[in-house]
Amino acid sequence: MSRSSLMAASESTASTRVRAGGAMVRQAKLQDAVNIFELVNSLSGDGTLLRRSYADICENVRDFAVAESESGIFLGCGALHLYGPHLAEVRSIVVKPEAKGQGAGGRILRALLKEAEEQGVASVCMFTRIPDFFFHFGFRLADRTTLPDKIYKDCQACPRLYACDEVAMVRGPLPRIAVLGPTRIAQPELVKLQVGHIAHAVEDAFEGDGAIAPKGPAER
Ligand SMILES: CC(C)(COP(=O)(O)OP(=O)(O)OC[C@H]1O[C@@H](n2cnc3c(N)ncnc32)[C@H](O)[C@@H]1OP(=O)(O)O)[C@@H](O)C(=O)NCCC(=O)NCCS
Repeated sequence: MSRSSLMAASESTASTRVRAGGAMVRQAKLQDAVNIFELVNSLSGDGTLLRRSYADICENVRDFAVAESESGIFLGCGALHLYGPHLAEVRSIVVKPEAKGQGAGGRILRALLKEAEEQGVASVCMFTRIPDFFFHFGFRLADRTTLPDKIYKDCQACPRLYACDEVAMVRGPLPRIAVLGPTRIAQPELVKLQVGHIAHAVEDAFEGDGAIAPKGPAER
């Protein structure tokens, strides 16, 4: 996430951080991963947010924006996952309970949308239980089957697949392509064996222990 996108999300300051209404939004750093992990997973038990492992958050920390108070206290976070130029997804957007209703969530979301714009992404999607919040930011309801990338990325493996209570939302045109498909088990790569060498090695291994050594191809 570029600094300029975050600066554009609100009024700029002389520092690298954006400041607005007491909350500042900046690109996440690896040091934020623990806070992100704890906050996101505090709301994963009831299905509000998708559970994310610490390793997953570290690996994708550059997707995240974080909001913090003037004194540097972590207030919340959100992530923009890029599928491709056709689609991005807002994920893991959350603010601490004590920071709700003060504009931090909106500022995080605006920063993520600005980032999508800078990346030239045509559409931004998300699945949520609180569409009213996202209506404020130009999202509209969508048929989830129009977002196969999201379905193949998360829904396939989700325990709530057949009991999902989220609605799909999109901002921008519906994507006309998808880059993900059903997960397939990779074909094991066949290795060409050098039969002669193996036969000799096996014979050497069996020699002297009374076992019958397998015959090499020339002896069969
Ligand atoms: C959703 C959430 C991130 C909003 O953060 P927030 O800091 O409280 O939101 P803001 O104060 O920036 O509100 C921005 C606007 O959205 C509105 N809004 C906030 N929460 C809303 C909600 N749950 N439903 C409808 N509108 C909401 C606000 O009234 C405000 O509108 P205004 O600009 O007209 O005043 C926060 O409530 C949260 O962490 N919820 C739990 C996690 C969650 O559900 N995340 C979404 C998963 S998809």
